[in-house]
Amino acid sequence: MYKPAVYSSANDLQRHDADDISEEYGDEIAEMSGRCLDIGSGPGDVVIDFILPKLNPNATIVCSDISEPMVNFGKERYRDNGRLSFVKLNIEAPDLPEDLIGQFDHVTSFYCLHWCQDMRQVFKNIFRLLRPGGTTLLAFLANNPGFYAYEVLAAMPRYQPYMKDVERYIPVFQHTDRQRETLKALVKDVGFEVHHCSRRERSYIFNSPDILSKYILAVNPFIERMPTDLREDYKKDLIREVAKQKIIFNKNNNNENEYSILSRYYLFIVYLRKPLTK
Ligand SMILES: C[S@@+](CC[C@H](N)C(=O)[O-])C[C@H]1O[C@@H](n2cnc3c(N)ncnc32)[C@H](O)[C@@H]1O
Repeated sequence: MYKPAVYSSANDLQRHDADDISEEYGDEIAEMSGRCLDIGSGPGDVVIDFILPKLNPNATIVCSDISEPMVNFGKERYRDNGRLSFVKLNIEAPDLPEDLIGQFDHVTSFYCLHWCQDMRQVFKNIFRLLRPGGTTLLAFLANNPGFYAYEVLAAMPRYQPYMKDVERYIPVFQHTDRQRETLKALVKDVGFEVHHCSRRERSYIFNSPDILSKYILAVNPFIERMPTDLREDYKKDLIREVAKQKIIFNKNNNNENEYSILSRYYLFIVYLRKPLTK
């Protein structure tokens, strides 16, 4: 689904949020020592640039991802870094690999968990991966009005055959009321102590439609399934529908393709501890 090099060249928004959150949680990250796990690491640059430098110097980190191309890309790119290793892992799987259970002192994850539908399974898995007393710092989308574009395009007869599973790619909290309350109740029920659980409005400015387009296409799961002669129309329709959910400004009167786009969306920031007694 993701192409590692394409994603790496269009993830400024995700990097911007990881930079802010890792700075805010710098003290907690500095206390992370021992064996750490990052979930949904993608190409690995967020771990390298924002997490690893802030971890306790004796910590090592296992980067994990459901996507084999992502795991292989990270392995190759960071093969000289003795503190990093890479493993394929689906955090939503009903059965975790036995050799990973209870093996981690800390778990981090940025911009991954909104790709999962069964959030109870996800949090049960994170709980099982941690050692007693271990902590986890997670940031993932609660909702983003941009996903409405998927629903609009999936209803169009020409795109419908390639977007039948559209629901699977819309965050589970997108249409949920009381999102923070629901998430907090879920993680407590799984057994975590909640040290922080917030749903925050965030914003990001794309300085041109081209930058927005690259960002949207780098995370689009449908376009690769379409016949090549449909893709250009799909891209245009997708960008148009996403842009309808954003705030357009700084228009250039001499060039209709030059403008800036303000995107507003909501992120969950969660910091949890597995109790010592469990
Ligand atoms: C938007 S990227 C985020 C990458 C990186 N953490 C960052 O902040 O730039 C999401 C990553 O999560 C991975 N992913 C999606 N579903 C997953 C799952 N169930 N288990 C593990 N990784 C998953 C994707 O393959 C992708 O590499």
